[in-house]
Parts: sequence; structure tokens; C-alpha cells
Amino acid sequence: ENDFDYETRHNHLMIGGVDSVELAHKYGTPLVVYDVSKIREQINHFKSVFEDNQVEYEVSYASKAFASVATYQVMKQENCHIDVVSGGEIYTALQADFPMDKVSFHGNNKSVEELVMAVKNHVGVIILDNFHEISLLNQVLEELNTTTNVMLRITPGISAHTHEYDQTGQVDSKFGFDVESKQAEQALKMVLDNPRMNMLGIHAHIGSQIFEVNGFVMAAEKLVDLSAEWHQKFDYQPQVLNVGGGFGIKYSEEDDPIAPEKFVDAIVKAIKKRSNQKGINLPAIWIEPGRSIIGPAGYNLYTVGSRKDVSGIKSYVTVDGGMGDNIRPALYQAKYEAVIANKANDKPKSTPVRIAGKYCESGDILIQNINLPRTQPGDILAMFATGAYGYAMASNYNLNLKPAVVFVENGQDKLVIKRQSYEDLVRLDLKY
Ligand code: LLP
Repeated sequence: ENDFDYETRHNHLMIGGVDSVELAHKYGTPLVVYDVSKIREQINHFKSVFEDNQVEYEVSYASKAFASVATYQVMKQENCHIDVVSGGEIYTALQADFPMDKVSFHGNNKSVEELVMAVKNHVGVIILDNFHEISLLNQVLEELNTTTNVMLRITPGISAHTHEYDQTGQVDSKFGFDVESKQAEQALKMVLDNPRMNMLGIHAHIGSQIFEVNGFVMAAEKLVDLSAEWHQKFDYQPQVLNVGGGFGIKYSEEDDPIAPEKFVDAIVKAIKKRSNQKGINLPAIWIEPGRSIIGPAGYNLYTVGSRKDVSGIKSYVTVDGGMGDNIRPALYQAKYEAVIANKANDKPKSTPVRIAGKYCESGDILIQNINLPRTQPGDILAMFATGAYGYAMASNYNLNLKPAVVFVENGQDKLVIKRQSYEDLVRLDLKY
């Protein structure tokens, strides 16, 4: 029993119309499974909010949450933009034939090589983060004798209530131009004076896994205020306000977030109202959600192995994956829910167990406390909402193999990332 709605058939957890236990047996475990219809649904929820509010918009998927050729193909089918943060993400998007004019390139330390790659491939917009980057990009544009769209990332001075590592909007942040100290204004002047840079708009991202609407609304209002100020001072008005992502999702029964699109509704309404008050044109509104699009659609499947009972204290149930395929519990104390996929309707026992991973670290615990039915070796454990920053942050620690990834939709399953092999592990190794 947990707070997630899930379908079962013959007491097995179903994902996208496919039996998860069969998937585990067919592809092996650990396995990452995405219910693709959930991805499409969430994108459509976001789009409906904009349509209902009659504003120009783009939904830009923050692909750091889970980037793969297949993910980019889905985003292309859904007519989304994507946000990329590295040459690797640009390269992978190219492999998926993703339209480069729908790409926003982020990062607080983009290399010259990455900037060249972005400009040569005509990415839609480069989001400028700092003064060093303005001059690097200028050099690149001069060398290639071309132009590009840019946006300025600003720090709106808002502290979002989330894990410290997930905060990005406060003044003391490594990202973006500060507004108060007029860094942003100085950057704007440089860009407006540069004939190779077309100043498309402003960007702000206040953090990730945020549950409060307030921070988003305040950031949105700041963006409008800044637009109005710039309109007055420089006769320049941003066409696009990009409000970033960060809409929180439910991981465990402790979380009770509003639907992700409700954050967006509040943001859009705030921007409309404020623009009206300030007498400026309504800009296009772009959002950049990663987690809320891809997180709830993902499931990690593991096979249960050994068990250790520490008498009178607790029991450790160990699975065949762990911090290598999902670092979030160890890194952020993130909580997850799970079921035994082959006993999906069985009543859980009253004594909780601890789900441990197979990595050689005491901190490799996937779930601290969970009530499950009696488990035995060979059972399949399915963890919910693992789709964002799970596989994306996977490592080969202990030289365990990265899992395979399967997309399911309409009762069909398709392997989209192969499981690594031992040969893959040593592919780059050279003898000494
Ligand atoms: N836009 C920008 C500029 C970002 O930095 C991020 C996330 C997003 C959009 C998407 O945020 P989302 O909608 O996914 O919350 N590894 C951490 C999360 C790091 C988020 C980094 N930036 C975690 O697992 O919680």
C-alpha cells in the first residue's frame, strides 16, 4: 500500500499496459522503465495552461533530468523545445535529429568548443550566464562570422525552500547575472551593443523540487519589473521571459505537491497581470521543467537478493542495484516509494524493512523504511517516480553496469538504452 495509483493484473504491477515482472525477466534488472504516455500527458497539461491563458509560450524540456536519443525523439514528436547544458547533450540531440532551432543552451562555464558546436549547429538560443561567456561567445561569433540569439540568465534574489543543492535563485549563487548590483543591466548593454547577438529575453530558474507557488510568482514578477525598467531605460523589451523549471513532484507520502501545471498557471497569470500594470507588451512565456515531465513516468525495477536481520532492530533487504543507478537517496536523502511488483496487491507486513543497494558503502540505502509484503530472493522491487535524475546521474561505481532503459506505451515495450556490458567498462582503458 502506498500513495501512488498503480494498475495491477494477476497481482503484478502494470506499467503502460505491460507487466513489469515480465519486463524484469525479459530485459534483466536493474531496469529503468518509462511509461511514455505519462511524459506526453504532462507536456500536454503544461501546454493547456498556456492555451487557456491565451499567451505565447514554449515548453522546453530540461533534458539533464534524463537525456537520451529516445527521449529527444519523444520531445521532437511532442513539438517541445529542449534545454541542453553540455556538448554531450547537443551531440545526443543531433543523433535524434532534434531540430536545433528549438534548443536552448545553458551552463555557467560553457567551453569554447561547446560554444562553437552550438553556434555551428545553429541552436535556437544561448543563455548567457556571465561576463566571461559574453566575451567568449563574441570571439566565437566573430571567428565564424555569424550571429545568434541570446538570453540573459539573471539571479532574481529568491531563496526557494528546497534542498540546498537544489537552490539556484538566491543572490549568493554560482548562476547568472545579479540584478541588484546592476550586473544584469551591464550585461544587457553589452549584448544590445553587439550586432552579432540578438537579445531574445531573460531567464531565471529559482531551484528544483519546489512545492511553493510563491517563489515562482515573485521571480516572474521580478522578470516583468526588470523588463519594464529596461523598456524605460533602454527602449528594449524582452520578447521572451523564461521562468525556468523546478516544479516539485511527489516521491513519497510525505510530499503533497499541487499538480505541476498549477505552478505554471500561477506564473502565467502573474506575468499577465504585472505586464498589464506596468504597461508593457505581454512577452512569450517559456518554461523549462525536467523533473515534472520525466520523473513520474519512470520506474526502477530491481531483483531482491540477500537479507540481513539485525535482531530486534531492523531488516535489510538487498537489491541488485543502488547508488550507481539512483544516487538521490544517498546524495539528497531523497525518499521513494516502492512495491513488490510480483506481489502488488499483497498486504504489507507491519514491520518495515530497509532497502539496501549492492554497493560497498553503508550509505547505499535506497529506502530507509518501507512496509512491504514478505519478500524473498527473486522478488521484483519496483520504485516509483525514478525518472528524473536517476539514470541521468548513474555511475559505474564499483564497476557495476549501468542498467538498460525500456520505453513502454500502449502495451508495447521497446529497449531504448542497452545495458552496459563488461567490454563497455574497459572500452577506454589502455594497458600501462
Ligand atoms: N532549468 C535550469 C536552468 C536548471 O538548472 C534546471 C535544473 C531545470 C531547468 C530543471 O529543473 P527541474 O524542473 O528538473 O526541477 N540533480 C538534482 C536536480 C538538479 C537540478 C538542476 N537544474 C536532483 O536530483 O534533485
